[in-house]
Amino acid sequence: MKEIDPDKLPQHIAIIMDGNGRWAERHAMGRVLGHRKGAESVRVVVRTCRRIGISFLTLYAFSMENWLRPKAEVRALLKLLEEYLVNEAQEMMDQNIRLMAIGNLDSLGAPVLTKLRETIARTAGNGGMVLNLALSYGGRDEIATAASRMVDDALAGKIKTADVTKEFCQRYLYTSALPDPDLLIRTGGEYRISNFLLWQMAYTEFYFTDTLWPDFREPDLMEAIAGYQQRERRFGRTSEQLRRT
Ligand code: FPP
Repeated sequence: MKEIDPDKLPQHIAIIMDGNGRWAERHAMGRVLGHRKGAESVRVVVRTCRRIGISFLTLYAFSMENWLRPKAEVRALLKLLEEYLVNEAQEMMDQNIRLMAIGNLDSLGAPVLTKLRETIARTAGNGGMVLNLALSYGGRDEIATAASRMVDDALAGKIKTADVTKEFCQRYLYTSALPDPDLLIRTGGEYRISNFLLWQMAYTEFYFTDTLWPDFREPDLMEAIAGYQQRERRFGRTSEQLRRT
């Protein structure tokens, strides 16, 4: 397993968990079983991130676009999510993990939403790591929702044009309580960000792997973090400037 430097960990890791369907196809199973296997990777990755000291982990579990999938697959994904929340709530308590969620959560429907709200409330006092699930999430939708809330506040006389700086905009996003991701991991061999955290990923380091999500386990995570640790994050500056700071 790749060695990682505990002093240079990304504070926030975001993951696009892609490849469940192809994994299922390769193993001659239905897509839903691929998602089920993917939920096992979720458990492993959450536990590992907590153990090595990652502070924030955001998982793209269900995109706005995923609603367009066949009804049976959507139902199965929501069911899997509900099961995950029921089965993992105690583990989150034991591991001192705080659950958060971003996205158009109301559209998830009663069973998932109730479990989600319960688990968020139950884990609210935990400070070991934030597990943030992106559910019914779309980056453009998030930005449009933020803009529309800003317009409401402007019309109510609460804000002025000059207030609207980038720091101010950030406060209207779903992620207002979270730092931007340092590292984005995408599994499944595609090289795109699929409407994920568009605003927040301005300076994020991207790591792409061909490994399909159900096969992504601790060694793969360590490899991604080790890769991140070799990058030089310049935030627009030169290497020389960074050496001097
Ligand atoms: C992409 O694979 C994955 C998803 C659309 C859903 C991700 C869901 C899980 C990993 C399981 C449930 C999550 C939790 C938090 C318990 P794909 O179906 O697009 O794969 P493909 O590109 O190979 O078809």
